[in-house]
Amino acid sequence: MGHCPQDDRGGPDPHLGRYAARTAGMTASEIRALFAVASRPEVVSLAGGMPHLAALPLEELAAQSARIIAEEGLTALQYASAHGLPLLREQICEVMALEGVAARPDDVVVTVGSQMGLDLVARLFCDPGDVVVAEGPSYVGALGSFAAYQAEVVHVPVDGHGLVPDGLRAALRQARNAGRRVKLLYTVPNFHNPSGVTLAAGRRAEVLEICRASGVLVVEDNPYGLLGFDGRVRPALHSLDPENVVYLGSFSKTFAPGLRVGWVLAPHPVREKLVLAAESAMLCPPTLNQMIVSRYLATQDWRGRIESFREIYRERRDAMLDALEEYLPPGCTWTEPDGGFYVWVKVPEGVDTKAMLPRAVAARVAYAPGTGFYTNGLGSRRMRLSYCYPTPERIREGVRRLAAVLEAEPALAHASAAAGPGRTAGRRALAPEAV
Ligand SMILES: Cc1ncc(COP(=O)(O)O)c(C=O)c1O
Repeated sequence: MGHCPQDDRGGPDPHLGRYAARTAGMTASEIRALFAVASRPEVVSLAGGMPHLAALPLEELAAQSARIIAEEGLTALQYASAHGLPLLREQICEVMALEGVAARPDDVVVTVGSQMGLDLVARLFCDPGDVVVAEGPSYVGALGSFAAYQAEVVHVPVDGHGLVPDGLRAALRQARNAGRRVKLLYTVPNFHNPSGVTLAAGRRAEVLEICRASGVLVVEDNPYGLLGFDGRVRPALHSLDPENVVYLGSFSKTFAPGLRVGWVLAPHPVREKLVLAAESAMLCPPTLNQMIVSRYLATQDWRGRIESFREIYRERRDAMLDALEEYLPPGCTWTEPDGGFYVWVKVPEGVDTKAMLPRAVAARVAYAPGTGFYTNGLGSRRMRLSYCYPTPERIREGVRRLAAVLEAEPALAHASAAAGPGRTAGRRALAPEAV
């Protein structure tokens, strides 16, 4: 916690008063704090966004990594350019071509995960007090990066078709009227984290047009774009307006997050500054990890593997939606994602998902409470459930436990005692206007 008078062992912090003002915006993410408890084996964790790695060819990857060190160790273990390895940047362009992006390797910068891309973009564009508009809710790691550079995130409403263009117009107008400077739109157009929704095709050009007309740069964060369950790949925002979109990509969800390899594709002048910022942050991204990713892309059927990841996640999404339908008490609604990792659940009035979390963990199920995904205190009746990591059986069991916890919440226990037994029939997917 910034300016917290105590350290995390309860003692006074002798450095208080020395910290830079920007540390005031650095607060522990509710989700990170959860990882410790949620990773106990008896807890079904529906909290984290950890990909399912068991489908990777580990023996083959081990052999390849060993060969890279044995045969090219003097390169693999050496410093390299902050821009990223040229071959990998070419391969990244092939990956992005699947989403209609026509990129030149020179305009790609390899980063330590897309999280670092976010940090670098915030570093380049955000002065204290600048406004970043973003979906409400938004990816918690992005909120952390913008807070670290003292930018204020203004949320734009989201419905079942993604970011609402009229909401974006209104947010920009309001900020302008208040004399604020809006620098960026931060958006996750595909299989959004945490809401699971996807920006409708018809809205993409509209959102881009609004931003261009307002002089706002678009930051398109797209780690899940290739994980659509219908196999259809949506055109990246970048493909529609390359000069006004900075695209963040990642191998974390389609290959391996532990390698920490992501990238930024930026208009050329921005790319030049990004390389300088990357240099001062880390000198260069890890050479060995870049070579492992590059070799994987060159020698493995990575498209086929993404195909099988889609199948696995679709089965888990189905298991979760079926279990929600079967177990959750009346008054709960949720989104139905077409890809990615997450379902966004709305609980009945009177239930506070953050306050309920310790009771859920005691009942051996964990989720991510909604408030962490907003900067304005909203989200207390929302939670994010991830279906990416547990097996379908564990997902079912987790939702069953969660339902029991919800039903025991005073607000629900009273309501169901008054209403008597019986469930509402029919699916309860969240109404499109109500994300
Ligand atoms: C929307 C979004 N952006 C960025 C990231 C960070 O990914 P990476 O592992 O590439 O840093 C995540 C991870 O969950 C995410 O969901």
